[in-house]
Formats: sequence, structure tokens, C-alpha cells
Amino acid sequence: MTVADSSALPPASTQTVTRLADYRPPLYRLPSVSLTFWLDRQKTTVEARIRLERDEAVYRPGESLLLHGGKLALESLTLEGEPLMEGRDYRLVPDGLELLNPPVAGELVSRVSIDPSANLELEGLYASGDMLCTQCEAEGFRKITYWLDRPDLLSVYTVKLIASAADYPVLLANGNCIEHGTMPGGQHFAVWHDPFPKPAYLFAVVAGQLVKTADRFTTRSGRTVDLEIWTRAADAAKTGHAMMSLKHSMAWDEQVFGLEYDLDIYMIVAVGDFNMGAMENKGLNVFNTKYVLADPQTATDLDYQGIEAVIAHEYFHNWTGNRVTCRDWFQLSLKEGLTVFRDQQFSADMNSAAVQRIGNVRGLRAVQFPEDAGPTAHPVRPDSYVEINNFYTATVYNKGAEVVRMYHTLLGADGFRRGMDLYFQRHDGQAVTCDDFRAAMADANGVDLSQFGRWYSQAGTPVVRVTDQYDTETKTYTLTMTQSCPPTPGQPVKEPFLIPIAMGLLSADGQTLPTQLTGEATAQAGTRVLRLSDVRQSFTFVNVAEAPIPSLLRGFSAPVKLERAWTDAELATLAAHDSDAFARWEAGQTVLTRVLLADADPASIGPARTDLPETVANLVAATLAPFTGETVGAGADPAFAALCLALPGEAYLAELVPVVYPDRLHAARNALRTAIGRRYADDLLKIIARFTDTGPFQPTAEAAGRRALRNTALDLLVAGGNSAAIALAADQAKAAGNMTDRLAALTALVDTDHPERSAILEAFQADFAEDALVLDKWFTVQALSRRADTLAQVTALLGHPAYDAKNPNKVRALVGSFTTGNRAQFHALDGSGYGFLADQVIATDGFNGKLAARLVAPLAPWKKMDPARQGLMRAELDRIRKTPGLSKDVTEIVEKALAA
Ligand code: TRP
Ligand code: ZN
Repeated sequence: MTVADSSALPPASTQTVTRLADYRPPLYRLPSVSLTFWLDRQKTTVEARIRLERDEAVYRPGESLLLHGGKLALESLTLEGEPLMEGRDYRLVPDGLELLNPPVAGELVSRVSIDPSANLELEGLYASGDMLCTQCEAEGFRKITYWLDRPDLLSVYTVKLIASAADYPVLLANGNCIEHGTMPGGQHFAVWHDPFPKPAYLFAVVAGQLVKTADRFTTRSGRTVDLEIWTRAADAAKTGHAMMSLKHSMAWDEQVFGLEYDLDIYMIVAVGDFNMGAMENKGLNVFNTKYVLADPQTATDLDYQGIEAVIAHEYFHNWTGNRVTCRDWFQLSLKEGLTVFRDQQFSADMNSAAVQRIGNVRGLRAVQFPEDAGPTAHPVRPDSYVEINNFYTATVYNKGAEVVRMYHTLLGADGFRRGMDLYFQRHDGQAVTCDDFRAAMADANGVDLSQFGRWYSQAGTPVVRVTDQYDTETKTYTLTMTQSCPPTPGQPVKEPFLIPIAMGLLSADGQTLPTQLTGEATAQAGTRVLRLSDVRQSFTFVNVAEAPIPSLLRGFSAPVKLERAWTDAELATLAAHDSDAFARWEAGQTVLTRVLLADADPASIGPARTDLPETVANLVAATLAPFTGETVGAGADPAFAALCLALPGEAYLAELVPVVYPDRLHAARNALRTAIGRRYADDLLKIIARFTDTGPFQPTAEAAGRRALRNTALDLLVAGGNSAAIALAADQAKAAGNMTDRLAALTALVDTDHPERSAILEAFQADFAEDALVLDKWFTVQALSRRADTLAQVTALLGHPAYDAKNPNKVRALVGSFTTGNRAQFHALDGSGYGFLADQVIATDGFNGKLAARLVAPLAPWKKMDPARQGLMRAELDRIRKTPGLSKDVTEIVEKALAA
């Protein structure tokens, strides 16, 4: 098939589209509900007693009432005690149950049964190991009972759980346990009541053989909150870091935002089968084990940081998400963008702010920038969707967090806090929109933020181009900026954004120059924020003593691509002297990016480089110097140095070229790593010696930074073929006392043909045969190998006894890591990587469409690739599209990709 073959186009979509423009408030209020669960693995029965109250301001005479429901077996239905008759009183429809003559008010009682053991989509009530748990966001509650399953419908829940006391000794739900006891026949029960009205997506139930790790937190108003982390007995010893992170989060939210926890108990349950990271159910968070369990032998520094961030994220949702929730799912970023911003600020305060910020920006560029440039690009607040699960994206989460950060940058920390205070004052207990949030920020600060609204409605990554001019006579310096934004699906033309550009000026020798704009009475010393609001705008500075070097977009003050023709000398000065750590890092990345893009340019075919260009050599030498002398240089930060030595990622580089040849980008990056490893072998070996930890493992940012620099050095040395380093990697992979060092060594080693390679891999597997999370790492490390036989290895591992195609963590660890993290081999020119992914998507879609829809993403940006790959990728998308019974989740993504 060729790209131009229109006969291969899929048929026009027949999918139902939900649109923001069609929003209508709910016809009914359901102020309270009592649920009773007779829990059983194969057959759980759910009774719902629902108070119905018609909203006469919304209801139109003659309308029926649709209660959502999916995969429910209806056993009985009564209204005010009277049985309802199918056909006359109600009708079962594909989306649920329609009440044909809904009353003004009344009590509806339904009984349904469900089979948790058959629920492999992990949405609704499902089994994980021998426990039962729920996942309701976004639309899972309708798989538990008939309900008006929408976030703007808030109800008070009382839940009675009945189960076998032997099989399910622990019974949990939202809120407080108000009653529990035993029943005949080995059954027992618990009743939970949540006093806070909540949308159904925050509902949760957990039952199983769980043990708790308990602690307490005293709020600043003096209330005591019980903290409980529930796990399998074998995992209880690994909850310490999660508990500490929770207490830090609670204290931080009080200090920074004045927000206190509101219930007397906060529970977290760790579950091994989970579609995402974690879920903020009111008072009863459910977490992927990956974001709870840690000890030094099994978790890396990255895992420790991930736990801290996700624990914080879910905790912060209690105010940004639960107390104030979303009116509809188009407003998802209202809670997610804001809560990601909050967890990023928290992590910045707990660790190194600069290191955190660089990590966040790297993530945004690697995942969100490609999304914004591809066929599934959508605004932070989308206008339409087929399947809402497809919109839990880097755009909604991470670009959404950047949008919130821009308020913070524009209004300052105090102004932002005023906006948050007004937001809670106005909207506590409500379901609101992104516009409501923006209005609170504007009104609390007396500013007009109407133009800022375009960050929510327009997709695409804006490009800011900068030119400048210094006038020696008048000592004035003018920066001229133009902004544009490429077209995205459905949005051919964009209006200008309000873009905060944090900046400063440097002298040629790296000193900070004061800045004074025309019309200002005095000069400013530090970073200042320019507001770029027009398509083209100039900013003129006066009293500028010499031709300055502009430092622009400090702290990455806006999610844009900024372009200016910096000279190599200017970049070196910025990298060495900028007062802003992000800008120092960014200047170094620009140096590296230039070399990599030139080396990968298809117009300049040549042998892989063996030398190092002077710009890179100078940068690397300056980065290493503080760590190779007699003593470590004052203020030198190993974590920051490790980030400076990390070459720009292949996904980000791919965003910077018009046509992507993934093998060239990969080869260029490898060659540069190798050249650095060779030329600086002595310095890198010194760093390894200097930062070899001997004391006990500490998961602090400081200790993690030392490990990061040491393992970066090891990686570069192994890339450079250094035999001492390869031997060291082999030892460390076998015997390091902590998982950070062990995994880093294994990662370096799997690229090599070391004679012990497979023995070491086998030993690692044997050491951790009982630890699912470490086995995930073992699968990932093999999937990321640079060796040419990796796809064959990955395919073989699909059959390994420790692999489980039904477990999302396993699928992501093996299949996901290969297709997103091993770009060169995924994009192999024989199409084998594409065929492999399509097979996996089709197989996974048979039981978990949500997971399959996330897996398929790497095939979507086919149009960016070179012509040969375009056709291969498109053919696989087409094959997936034609699979009978495809989920609407995958269908939506594949159709958007094919329509590009
Ligand atoms: N709201 C969750 C969070 O961001 C994420 C989430 C949404 C989720 N849908 C889910 C988690 C489905 C698991 C399964 O914290
Ligand atoms: Zn969230």
C-alpha cells in the first residue's frame, strides 16, 4: 500500500462524538444514595437506593431520564416501592437504562449483578490478585450501578459492604466507617459514610486480605487525622517513604496554600493491576503499587521521587479536584493541570528546584510537544471527544500545568495565592470550569486575563522568534519578538497568545546587566517578565552599557519553542554564568542540539563522528571540572551536572526537524556519547571513584544527585567502550547494594556484548523472582537495549513465565518501553517494530481498550517520518482499524491518525 492509496482510507466514522458546546446541566439531582454490595469475585450484587429530584429549570416536559449503565445484569427495579415494567416504565438501551416517565421526585431502588473476575478493563469493580477494588474515573461508576454518571452531579454516599470474612477481612469505602459486625454463614459487613457530596468518579470500594501501616497527622487547626496505607502483608515493610511523603504533602499544602485535610481518616491502598498511576477517590486513594512501595534494594531514586510526587498529587486533589470538581470532562485540566502544577511546586520545594524544573521540561518536550504536533493534538480544554479516557494526556496534564504556572509567573506567588483563595471562596463544593478558575485569578488581582483564555482553547506549540539590536550611540537595546502557532487538526488559524517571557541581560563576561525598559524610572536587577501579546512586539531597554547577551525564557516561563541565533560564544557564556539554572542548562542543550541535528542531517551523509566539536568539548569540560579537582568546587551540584551531560532525547530532537529519520538521530546521539566517553575517560573515572557511596543508602535529593552523576559517568564510559568501566558495570549489576546503582549498571551493560551479559540478567531475574515491580524493570532494561537483536528478545520475553499480558505494568514495561523508549529499533526500516506494536495493540484491545489506546500512540505521528516509514506505519494503523470489534478507545486514536 502506498500513502496516496485512497481506497485504503477507513470508512467515515460512525462514532458518537460528545461536544463541549452541547453541555446541559443534569435533569435530576440525586442528593443521596445508599449502596449495598454483596461482594463476590464472580458474582457481586449491588443494590442502589437513590433519591431522585427533578430540576424543573432544566427538565423539558416529556423527556425521559437516561441512567448510565454498562455490562450490568438488572435483577430488579422499583420506584417508591412499586416494581417498574420494562417497555412501559423503562427501557434498556446501549448506554444504560431509560426511565420513560420519570417522576418529579421519588426513591428508585435497583439491583444489579456484575462479574469482577471477568473485568480485565480494570474499570468499575474488578479483581486484582485476591482482592477486589474499583476504578471509577472517568466513567466507571456506571459499570457498578445505574446512575447519572457525570462529574457535575454531587451526592452523599452511604455504602454497606457484605462479604466472606475469610476471603475479604478488610472492607473499605470512602469517608468514615460508622458500623461493622459479623453475620451468619462466615459473612461480615462494614458501613461507610462520606459526609462530603461528591461526583461518582470519586467513589471507591476495596475488599481483601490487606494489612495497614498506620500513622497520624495533626492539622494546623489541631485535628488528628489517621493515615493508613493498605497493602498485601508482604509489602507492608515498603510503605515508609509513601507515608513520609504523605505527611510532607499535608504540611506543605497548609503552609503554601492554607489548605487542611477535611476528613478524620486518609487511606491509600496499593493495587498491582492498575491502568494508570493512582486515583484520588475521596478519603480512599487507590494506587498502582509502583507509586507506593519502595526500599533501597528494590526501588531507584527515580521511584522514590515518583512516589513522593504521586502521593502529593493525589493528596492535593482533595482540594483541587474533590472539594472543587469539574463541571464536565472537557474541564479535566481544571483539576489535573492545577494539581500537576501543585505537585511540581511541592517536589521543587522538597528537592532541588532547578533539577525538578529541568526534569519537568524534558518530560514536556519528549511527550507533550510531539502530541501537540501530531494528529491527536487537542487544546488543554478539548472541544469534543469520542472516548474521554483518550484525553488523559500530556497536553491536559503537563501543558495544563504549564498554563497554571504562567498565572503564577504573571501574577507572582502572592497574586497566585490570592487567586487560589478566591477560587475556593467562590467554588468550594461546586463543579466548575476552566473559565471559572481564570476568572478567580483575574478578579483577585484586578487584571484582564481574557487573552490568556486562548491557552485553553488553541492547540499547538507556539513558536517565538527573537531578533535584537544594540545601538552603541544611544545605549539602547531592542528585542523584537514574533509569535506564531502551527495549524492543528480542526484549527487552521491561531490567534496570538499572552506569553510571559522571563528574561535578563548579561554582559559579554557573564555579569548581570540591570534592565530598564523605555518609560521606566529605574532599572531592575534580577529576572523580569515581559508580556508578549501581539504577533510582533518590540521591547526597548535603555541605559544598556554594552551589547548584551539576552537570557530568554528563564525557568521555561512558557510552553513555547523559542528561537534566536545565539553565537557559540554567547551560549558558552550563558551556560557558564546565567543566574538562572534552567537557562544555564538550556544554553548547554542548545549547543548539543546543534551538533546532533547537524550530524543527523540526511544531506550530510558521512561516517559517524569520532572527534568532539570544540563547543561540546568546552561544555563537557566545564561541567566536569568542579568534580575532578582536589576538592569538589563550591556550589557545584552533581545532579545538575548529570542533567547537563544528558544529551537531548531522540523524541525531542525529532520535533526539531522537518522529516524524521529516527536511525540517524539515534546514530548521531550514540556517536556523540561515545566521543564524550572516550575523550573524557580519565575525568569520568575520577567522578566514579569520588562518588562511590560507602554508607547506607539515603533517598535524599543530595545523595540521589551523586548517584546520578556517577551513573551518568558510567554510562558515557561504557558507551565509549572503556573496559574498566564495563567491568565495573558488570560488578555493579551483580552486587550493588541499592537498586539505583544496580539498575543503572544493568542498563549500561545490556547494550554490550559482555560475555556475562545473559548470566547477569538471569541472576537478576532470580534474585527478584517474587517482586513484580523489580521484574518490570528487568523487562524494561531488555526492551531498551541498543543491541540489534532487541525486538527478537522482546518477542521472546512475551512468553516468559513472569510476563502477564493482562497486567498493565508488565505491558508498559516490555511493550511500551520498546515502542516509546527504543526509537531506532521500533522504527526499523523493515517495519518489524510497527508490526509488533500493531499485533500487541490488537491483542490487548480484546480485553482492555484503555490500555490498548495508550499503546497505539507511537504509530500515530506517521506523517512526520521519512517516506518509507510513512507507508509502513500507515499500513499497520489501517490493519488495526479494520480489526473487527475494535474498542471505541483505539478506534478514535487510529481514525484521527489516519485522517492526518
Ligand atoms: N485522576 C487520576 C490522577 O490524575 C488519574 C486517572 C484518571 C486514573 N483515570 C484513571 C487512574 C483511570 C486510574 C485509572 O491522579
Ligand atoms: Zn490527577
